[in-house]
Amino acid sequence: MDPRVALLCLLPLCPGLVAAATSCPQNVNIAGGTFTLSHGWAPGSLLTYSCPQGSYPSPASRMCKSNGQWQTLGATPGSGRRGRATCRPVRCPAPVSFDNGVYSPRLGAHPVGGNLSFECDAGFTLRGSPVRHCRPNGVWDGETTVCDNGAGHCPNPGISVGAVRMGSRFRLGDKVSYSCSSGLVLTGSVERECQASGVWSGTEPLCRQPYSYDFPEDVAPALGISLSHMLGATNPTQKKEENVARRIQIQRSGHLNLYLLLDASQSVSEQDFRIFKESASFMVDRIFSFEINVSVAVITFASEPKVIIPIQSDRSWDVAEVTYSLEHANYKDHENGTGTNIYKALNSVYIMMNNQMARLGMETMAWQEIRHAIILLTDGKSNMGGSPKPAVDRIKEVLNIRQNRNDYLDIYAIGVGSLDVDWRELNELASKKDGEKHAFKLPNAAALRQVFEHILDVSKLTSTICGVGNMSANASDQERAPWHVTIKPRSQETCRGALISDQWVLTAAHCFRQAEDRSTWRVIVGDPSSRWGKEFLIEEEVIHPGFDVSAKRNQGILEFYGDDIALLKLAQRVKMSSHARPICLPCTMEANMALRRAPGSTCRDHEAELLSPQSIPAHFVALNGNKLNVNLKTGTERAQCIEVVSQDRKTFPNLTDVREVVTDQFLCSGEEDDANPCKGESGGAVFLERRFRYFQVGLVSWGLYNPCRGSPDKNVRRKAPKGVPPPRDFHMNLFRLQPWLRQHLEGVLNFLPL
Ligand SMILES: *[C@@H]1O[C@H](CO)[C@@H](O)[C@H](O)[C@H]1NC(C)=O
Ligand SMILES: *[C@@H]1O[C@H](CO)[C@@H](O)[C@H](O)[C@H]1NC(C)=O
Ligand SMILES: *[C@@H]1O[C@H](CO)[C@@H](O)[C@H](O)[C@H]1NC(C)=O
Ligand SMILES: *[C@@H]1O[C@H](CO)[C@@H](O)[C@H](O)[C@H]1NC(C)=O
Ligand SMILES: *[C@@H]1O[C@H](CO)[C@@H](O)[C@H](O)[C@H]1NC(C)=O
Ligand SMILES: *[C@@H]1O[C@H](CO)[C@@H](O)[C@H](O)[C@H]1NC(C)=O
Ligand SMILES: [Mg+2]
Repeated sequence: MDPRVALLCLLPLCPGLVAAATSCPQNVNIAGGTFTLSHGWAPGSLLTYSCPQGSYPSPASRMCKSNGQWQTLGATPGSGRRGRATCRPVRCPAPVSFDNGVYSPRLGAHPVGGNLSFECDAGFTLRGSPVRHCRPNGVWDGETTVCDNGAGHCPNPGISVGAVRMGSRFRLGDKVSYSCSSGLVLTGSVERECQASGVWSGTEPLCRQPYSYDFPEDVAPALGISLSHMLGATNPTQKKEENVARRIQIQRSGHLNLYLLLDASQSVSEQDFRIFKESASFMVDRIFSFEINVSVAVITFASEPKVIIPIQSDRSWDVAEVTYSLEHANYKDHENGTGTNIYKALNSVYIMMNNQMARLGMETMAWQEIRHAIILLTDGKSNMGGSPKPAVDRIKEVLNIRQNRNDYLDIYAIGVGSLDVDWRELNELASKKDGEKHAFKLPNAAALRQVFEHILDVSKLTSTICGVGNMSANASDQERAPWHVTIKPRSQETCRGALISDQWVLTAAHCFRQAEDRSTWRVIVGDPSSRWGKEFLIEEEVIHPGFDVSAKRNQGILEFYGDDIALLKLAQRVKMSSHARPICLPCTMEANMALRRAPGSTCRDHEAELLSPQSIPAHFVALNGNKLNVNLKTGTERAQCIEVVSQDRKTFPNLTDVREVVTDQFLCSGEEDDANPCKGESGGAVFLERRFRYFQVGLVSWGLYNPCRGSPDKNVRRKAPKGVPPPRDFHMNLFRLQPWLRQHLEGVLNFLPL
């Protein structure tokens, strides 16, 4: 053929040919499932199938090639290359071999919901799970069952379901190796050695269905046990006990370098790249929320890596900069090189490490004490640059990773989204440590979020870090609002309050109206109805001298709540726990750190940040412990909110100006769907959340309607009847009481300039 003709036909002069080359056939439906296209029917478009829970798509995805043909990605076994896509039922693998015992039933593969029971021969003790259940992700619950007689130097390492083990001696230096039955992929270590410490090297090999993914509740302990080292939290010599070290125990010491590598190659769709960004942002925000010393490098990669924030940059420890960069990382930056070069991406991490070492000095503590974590968000399908292993080896070398420095490096390979993950590669990249897992796949960013909520554990945090509540769905009411306290005279509960340090409680002045013997008053810290509740005596009370409920009686204001604020000093310091911890008081250095603001910030800056829009979602804690919602009104909305007070003719006959009753000291809520506080909820914090931390902006003072009136049941709140006046609630605005707070809390908290 004449080359000029061929050339011409590449241009739109040969429409027939071009049309054929620019779209793939549309007969790609999947029975029982759905699919998405990243770029319609054009070449380069990624087609992703999905199926209902309990089934999986085969194939998982296809790519429209430039010749107008669909190509099935990866090598999912049994997925007919050209055949129709189908949703197939998820199955759990069957055991291939089991030592020193029996199991039943014996099936080729097990349906979701099926059980597998194990029993050991006489003389052997069962370790792990005696019964396992097949879960909807194709993974058995529980742990590998092992029948052990304790004869070896190392414990019997067992044979995970679907695996075959070579080697049956467990003396010092003995090696065992594993393989998986066909169709399954091995994650973990292929070979393990019995070490002097009595522990097997590497990580337990598991045989997975290629389509299997992880549930958040599985990933949480696994990620937690590993991350706990990185945060310099656990004692490295401490034995890893279940449920103890399997959490990130937040301590504010040590330095962590976190390298986030986001795969932006063609096999990862733009949608999944967005999920990577969202997941990474979430991780960063959550880890920074504990004020630990972290630097974060951000790299996106495809054929080439793009360093968005290098580790040595000042931006790397500014959470706002890191989050901003992640939000603005662009998939299209890699449009001219859409391959996947994990080697180069890791090598760029190596180069950063090397530069930092050169700057700090190889022998310095500053360098040697840094822990490094690399988190790769990827589908694991590298197709360029060869094996990433040489880059990993170089990283290990520069960090001087030896047996006793194993904790200084963790590499996680995590797939998030509807990706067709290559488990083999994911596993090859990830670190291998005894009892730990470093390769995961999660269905979506929300699952990753849950993982993080679950693995962070502040129960061991002894310092009085403020405003840390537990946001896990499973946390108790008190764990969600650990600052919340109950104030009671001898037996009866009367008011609520908030811990603002380990010894001071902020509450309302009107709680102390009755002239009674204060020595009988108690503050209960922690949930009063559980073993966590602890009673404290009051050493000192400071009631605002301006508070006088009848101060304006002669103006026709029968009740007046100006200066309704009081401080109680507990007789002892409160021991910090997940059930007792102070809330952040704005305008303090403590709150400034929690808000992650620059050191020079002022009280006015805090007010602008926390009370800025005209309607601000906030919360208070109800008698039954529930967190209820209100919207605090400021500016012109506040004027509207307080207006209706004049309609309460009973309490305020003759009122000409509502501002006489609702002075500038009060925040207003109670409109629309707001909850209304009950009488016994007075003195409790009105608080809001910013960046996973809690800030008290007000305290419950008074209102026009009491939803608990006449109801002895804490769980019953009556809706306000239609009528005059509509409900409204007023809360002391802590920004308006700064002089008084400063006068009494100087030395307890560190206040910022007004
Ligand atoms: C498996 O065991 C659980 C309880 O242990 C039981 O509820 C379930 O019905 C069992 N499933 C099958 C398929 O036998
Ligand atoms: C955090 O790290 C930076 C940079 O390495 C260092 O200058 C700073 O002193 C550290 N802060 C704490 C509290 O360790
Ligand atoms: C890709 O290449 C085109 C043509 O050379 C160029 O205009 C574009 O800016 C490149 N994109 C990137 C992200 O470098
Ligand atoms: C939150 O509570 C859950 C359930 O009690 C617990 O597992 C988790 O560790 C807690 N997280 C934090 C941050 O304290
Ligand atoms: C919360 O508790 C439920 C029931 O106890 C459990 O099924 C679920 O896995 C838990 N979720 C988390 C994130 O801990
Ligand atoms: C209300 O105003 C009327 C007339 O101005 C006065 O007689 C009355 O005493 C006032 N009521 C109160 C409670 O101040
Ligand atoms: Mg790729």
